[in-house]
Amino acid sequence: MESQLSALLAKAQAEFPTLATRPDFEAAKARYVGPNGEFTALMKQMGSVPKEQRPAIGKLINEAKGKLQPLLDAALARLEQAELAAQLGPAVDPTLPSPDIGPGTFHPLTLVREEMCSILRKVGFVVADGPEVETEYYCFDALNTPADHPARDAQDTFYLPDTVRFGNVSKKTAEEKYLLRTHTSSVQIRTMLKGQPPIRIVSPGRVYRRDTSDATHSANFHQLECLYVDKNVTVRDLKALLDYIFASLLGKDTKTRFRPHYFGYTEPSFEVDLSAKHLPKVNKEWIEIGGCGMVDPTVFDAVGYDSTVWSGYAFGMGIERLAMLLYGIDDIRYFYQNDARFLKQFA
Ligand code: DAH
Repeated sequence: MESQLSALLAKAQAEFPTLATRPDFEAAKARYVGPNGEFTALMKQMGSVPKEQRPAIGKLINEAKGKLQPLLDAALARLEQAELAAQLGPAVDPTLPSPDIGPGTFHPLTLVREEMCSILRKVGFVVADGPEVETEYYCFDALNTPADHPARDAQDTFYLPDTVRFGNVSKKTAEEKYLLRTHTSSVQIRTMLKGQPPIRIVSPGRVYRRDTSDATHSANFHQLECLYVDKNVTVRDLKALLDYIFASLLGKDTKTRFRPHYFGYTEPSFEVDLSAKHLPKVNKEWIEIGGCGMVDPTVFDAVGYDSTVWSGYAFGMGIERLAMLLYGIDDIRYFYQNDARFLKQFA
């Protein structure tokens, strides 16, 4: 028995450190200490050992067990370590400088936004800002948008819950409904309520609509809004400004045209189309780019301006659409995926 035990131990000592995989380990373990294992078989022989020899043999078996178990433990720990290392991949020293040492680049939407602001600053516009979480008043009411206008519909607008929970208590936040602004036109109202004409602002920013995302739609995109209020402002001024900004951004061959349209906050109102066949991937003669018009007197009334004295124009357009035109990008989703291969192309 003693020699059998030490032979078995010697075999295990040689075998366990060489096991390379978990299944190999489990199989080897079964061969030694499983129900049909060799070690188990030796222990079973205890029953047939004469009584007086049992204490001595028992001691031998216990000693052998005490040596076998650490072999199993060590092999298992070694395999677990190897599995972990395989999952982690090659060793990385996070304290070393990044191998990608090139400078970052601006996001294409940032580039277009900044370019537009700079073009507009040259003709006297200043940048104005407004919150993305708005109330119905700034987003719709003050802009003369009727209560039953489809844009207000919960299908188009993200409304915030009108109660907030504090522990077990629900509190109504305000009499007004909060929403995520659907357009930057809300900044027109905020700006006019803050000051007096003349006003010349450009307001770029994020807007939200309940759109299903596809190549040309996103529930979250960017607009750029302009408002000019002064005496004797005419549609000619509006058209001249739009011609100037699009020629500056997209090249002097760019043309604009107005198509009559309806917006509650401007009268007359137009949709603006661009013709820019010189740009990459532009295969249509006219591309819709935004909306505009002469500020409606009801909007001046809402902010307390005398509409017999003041006149103005306003327009709004999508920054994504502009960037897609300028750079020949055919899917809006590229803007939001943060893929460095895409972003690096717009230095
Ligand atoms: N707010 C409009 C939209 O999101 C765009 C727009 C139209 C802005 C006419 C204006 C305007 O300032 O006068 O579609």
